[in-house]
Amino acid sequence: MISRYEEVYRDWKSDPEAFWAHAAVAIDWLRPWEKVFDANDGPYGRWYAGAECNTCYNAVDRHVAQGRGEQLALVHDSAVTGSQRKITYGGLLNDINALAAVLTDKGVKKGDRIIIYMAMVPEAVVAMLACARIGAVHSVVFGGFAAHELATRIDDARPVMIIATSCGLEPGRVVAYRPMLDKAIEQATHKVSACLILIRPQQPHELVEGRDLDYAQAVNAAAGRKVPCAALKATDPLYILYTSGTTGQPKGVVRDNGGHLVALAWSMGAIYDTRPGDVFWAASDIGWAVGHSYIAYAPLFIGATSILYEGKPVGTLDAGAFWRVVSEHKVRVLFTAPTAFRAIKKEDPKGEFIGKYDLSSLKYLFLAGERADTDTIKWAEEKLGVPVIDHWWQTESGWPMAANPAGLGMLPVKYGSPTVPMPGYDVQVLDDAGHPVKRGELGNIVVKLPLPPACLPTLWNADQRFREAYITEFPGYYKTADAGIIDEDGYIYIMSRTDDIINVAGHRLSTGAMEEVLSSHPDVAECAVIGISDHLKGQVPCGFIVLKSGVTRNELEIERDCVALIREKIGPIAAFKTALTVKRLPKTRSGKILRGTMQKIADEEVWNMPATIDDPAILDEIKVVLNSHGIGVRN
Ligand code: COA
Ligand code: AMP
Repeated sequence: MISRYEEVYRDWKSDPEAFWAHAAVAIDWLRPWEKVFDANDGPYGRWYAGAECNTCYNAVDRHVAQGRGEQLALVHDSAVTGSQRKITYGGLLNDINALAAVLTDKGVKKGDRIIIYMAMVPEAVVAMLACARIGAVHSVVFGGFAAHELATRIDDARPVMIIATSCGLEPGRVVAYRPMLDKAIEQATHKVSACLILIRPQQPHELVEGRDLDYAQAVNAAAGRKVPCAALKATDPLYILYTSGTTGQPKGVVRDNGGHLVALAWSMGAIYDTRPGDVFWAASDIGWAVGHSYIAYAPLFIGATSILYEGKPVGTLDAGAFWRVVSEHKVRVLFTAPTAFRAIKKEDPKGEFIGKYDLSSLKYLFLAGERADTDTIKWAEEKLGVPVIDHWWQTESGWPMAANPAGLGMLPVKYGSPTVPMPGYDVQVLDDAGHPVKRGELGNIVVKLPLPPACLPTLWNADQRFREAYITEFPGYYKTADAGIIDEDGYIYIMSRTDDIINVAGHRLSTGAMEEVLSSHPDVAECAVIGISDHLKGQVPCGFIVLKSGVTRNELEIERDCVALIREKIGPIAAFKTALTVKRLPKTRSGKILRGTMQKIADEEVWNMPATIDDPAILDEIKVVLNSHGIGVRN
């Protein structure tokens, strides 16, 4: 099939408003827009101004109304508990209605925020959609974050309620949520008065009187009730999803209703080549942007079946876990992070488990969230025999900014590149002064404003922070904070971040936030955290601490404290296992810590002595400490 990409991208570029008006036909609107794009609303404009719609209606009700009530909407496959649950569109609608009734009975109104702190269970998706139905704004917090991270989000989102599970299930470990919930609620200044708790059989949860309500009891009592879909402005917020910023204060990425519906529905056909009735599996977590967009929302927007998988690629039984799910549920498209494939490849290098399953339903593997290394892509291509598509996006965009659009016909693959910009994204590369660089030269990757539908219109209650973080540095452009290249053929290459964000197993983490935690240790005078290469997780954090003078405690003990502190404050997901005591940190004469040079030493990359370094001898000291821990020494 000859790719229609060029033609479609050109159509978009020649008249973006006509393009997005045409794409919007796929959505059921309660009221049409006055302007496809209103440039005068918000920091850079808003899509579908004046229109009204309801996200839940588009995800569920309309499919039931069109006779798809018996089709599967969600399949929960839990490799950790060995159980499965299949939910039809009709069943999902009933569950959403019941929960929406519980929420409205509790006084939840349009615009109120609800935090969802849940494991990978269908009720988490039901909770998201019930919020969408009544116009409450959900904010899902990933289960691997600890109490402090939850508290920060409570204080920023100021929710009226938290919906939680009693636990999460990690291989060999039940993670009780109640202690984290209690601690976060106590720590937050904004007081949450109501929690709805889904009690799982693996972990009891003693309900706190006056605060907690039993989810199952409440929805059972509300079974059969119907709650109408609220008429919401296309520009009303659907959800807030917090993502790492450069400080410990995460950024509340806002997603609106109308633009999100249009762009995500468009992406399912054009990018993922998925149609109503197909089975789509994003092997991620609903706590991340991928999970929001491609587990809970986009597959349902088009009437496909979405798989909700609770487990790991390896370790929840064996390295054949993914292939079992694909074959049992006839998955057409699998979307995950490269790290999952590196984990599978490590355990099953010959792909022996792959041969044990019928994978004939699988047509594509999409990878995103971090750089996909060529070895892993080639291994997956060879073993699976399907196209492996690296595509690039961010929590902020909510859908791919660059991809090889399978639904439009694939373009030739260039390993190392997530291919070309999608319609909506005019991607350019600028130098630090904001001038375009030559094709093939490295620079700051930016997107010409306005961003397309579904991208964040702003940060929650923080227009100014949005401007400073994204649109001030390169006027007229959105700064992605990724550095990269566009080649002669227009292919994009994402090389690294330009800020202090690191990517650990496809999870985005702020080294700045980790430094804030380490600095709070009473024995630590100063610190620096860098991301160093890891063959499995892509990167892992490594902390350097300088102790206060006069500290007599054993260094190893303090290092262990630091590791425990990050786990306690940020959560196990930070994968912070290495804290190294050093005498001094390398700095420029103006006092800036040379994190980049330290990272190059740790990763054995070529590095030049920074001209502005205060004392070059410190880099040797750092090298000695790293080497003594086996880091930065080829083995
Ligand atoms: N709740 C509580 N703890 C959690 C958690 C959750 N929801 N998710 C992860 N954790 C914990 C893990 O148990 C682990 O704890 P440990 O230090 O005690 O072992 C820690 O956080 C790190 O987790 P993870 O990064 O998942 O590492 P892992 O070693 O358990 O697994 C992979 C490695 C590669 C298998 C795993 O990272 C993976 O499947 N990645 C896929 C990436 C992905 O889904 N990305 C999302 C964007 S597409
Ligand atoms: P997140 O917001 O967690 O989705 O992380 C977004 C960041 O992950 C991007 O800014 C990139 O740095 C990185 N990223 C995502 N997809 C890719 C990809 N396909 N190739 C390289 N880096 C990627």
